[in-house]
Amino acid sequence: MTPTRPLGRLAVLVSGNGSNLQALLDAADAGTLPARVVLVASDRPDAYGLQRARDSGVPAHVVDWQRLRRHGGEREGFDRRLADLVARHNPDLVVLAGFMRVLTPAFLRHFEGRVLNLHPALPGAFPGVRAIERAHEACRASGLRETGVMVHRVVPEVDAGPPVAVESIPLDPSESLEALTTRVHAVEHRILPAAVAEVLAALPDDEFACRRAS
Ligand code: GRF
Repeated sequence: MTPTRPLGRLAVLVSGNGSNLQALLDAADAGTLPARVVLVASDRPDAYGLQRARDSGVPAHVVDWQRLRRHGGEREGFDRRLADLVARHNPDLVVLAGFMRVLTPAFLRHFEGRVLNLHPALPGAFPGVRAIERAHEACRASGLRETGVMVHRVVPEVDAGPPVAVESIPLDPSESLEALTTRVHAVEHRILPAAVAEVLAALPDDEFACRRAS
């Protein structure tokens, strides 16, 4: 009989509301995601996701990018600090859930192939900010018929990298941006925990076990 695996350890990075973090916390609580969020970190001290973490008893930390920048800090310096913080919590996976900074190899090389990002568009479409709004505009202006949501492995390029989960969402030119945004978020909240569970399940046993120490 295969021994039951311990819960996966997740570090979740957020910059704002944290509704996708909440979806992960809820799925972990419900037992549908065999994982535990061991750290929430943000580049912004005012991110509401930090409060969600505290409300769930999860350590919440800030590496304040704006503050660092005012004191002459650079992108790689921020990434190194963030990598140190995340590494101390020994995660199996790092999940970018509404994290609005592009991470460089100074961060990524510490977690090779183990960083996932959620993006509210289909692979190759609308990388960067305001993806939902841009899809909505493209639907009205040039008849774009679908957008979507993807979870992908992170590479240094913005919102690129191999997808691990993709779901299409039909567009309707008469729909308001608000209504489309609500539909896109509902898909995100469903596919993110499922994709994380799938990636955790595919991690080799030995890799998984070596991070059990803490
Ligand atoms: C999500 O739409 C995510 O795809 C995008 O930013 C939004 C974050 O929402 N990158 P929340 O902070 O999880 O509520």
